[in-house]
Amino acid sequence: MTPKQVQELIAEFRKLSVGNYPTPLEAIDNYSRSIGFAGRLYMKRDDMTANPGGNKTRHLEYIFADALASQADLFVIACPLQSNFGTMSAILGRKFNFPVLLIHNSDPPSHYTGNALLDELMGVERIFLGDIDEFTRADRAHDIVETIRSQGKKPYLYGEGNSKPLSSMGYVDCVLELVDQMEKEDKSFDHLFLPGGTGTCEAGVIYGVGLLDKPFHLHIVSVEYEKDYLMGNLVEKVQEMEALTGVSLPRPIEELITIYDQYRGGGWAVDTPETLEAIHEMARTEGIFLEKIYTGKCVSGMKAILQESIVHATSACYLHTGGFPSLFSQF
Ligand SMILES: Cc1ncc(COP(=O)(O)O)c(C=O)c1O
Repeated sequence: MTPKQVQELIAEFRKLSVGNYPTPLEAIDNYSRSIGFAGRLYMKRDDMTANPGGNKTRHLEYIFADALASQADLFVIACPLQSNFGTMSAILGRKFNFPVLLIHNSDPPSHYTGNALLDELMGVERIFLGDIDEFTRADRAHDIVETIRSQGKKPYLYGEGNSKPLSSMGYVDCVLELVDQMEKEDKSFDHLFLPGGTGTCEAGVIYGVGLLDKPFHLHIVSVEYEKDYLMGNLVEKVQEMEALTGVSLPRPIEELITIYDQYRGGGWAVDTPETLEAIHEMARTEGIFLEKIYTGKCVSGMKAILQESIVHATSACYLHTGGFPSLFSQF
């Protein structure tokens, strides 16, 4: 499909206007020199979608539009204490006068830092379930939402219905934006690196890249899950997007992506020495900030992949997905 056709395809889905687009596509020459990469390295600054920004802005533009249109009167999201998604949801909630409830799998902190501090400043409603895993948290969130429903309210629980594939549409927008910038700003690259988490952001990027017949190859650096599990998640999420739009990708996603799980160390939020090095190196060469959970890990993986010539690239781009506030809870 052409970019115009892809644009028309996703234009049928409601969307709010929140972020500042296009986010910059910058050459990061100092960092590139520092890691000894002879080619051109770019960064897509999706850390600058809004304040504090990140990938969640693009997701929430679709989800909040859907929630508002459904006449819901409460937006509910189950997430960790330092969730970027939770904080951006609370920000949109304040902007659109839409009450938000965050359900955390942690105890209330004795001292508010990072995203939790921003949530506290906004006075967002929160339920703290204590130290439980993400699957138990999801079950408990369902129970809480059912109780709220039984009281006559109309809660919108993120994750229910079509909210996840809708959320991914924001990253089809990002791919269209990137392709447009590459042409207008004469910046070309063949490889895009991005972090691999729950798969919502990546599914949108994959779907956009697949519809446009692969303007670049995707390198997904897992921060949490093993390769096979992440691949299963991504296949499922892309299929959900295909079901929503009615348009299937012309080729299997395996041809569009390479997944790396060897840089995730001990898993989600467990940093490695290389993550810390990446955070310092990017800050000291470019004045750009990464954090330990997603972006630092992805950049450390990208560095190894380029330095060890696992990928023979002459040009590449890193998709900076944000997460700035959580940095303040990590050191
Ligand atoms: C800063 C940042 N980068 C990347 C991701 C990964 O996105 P996804 O969960 O859609 O895979 C997240 C998710 O929370 C995030 O906050």
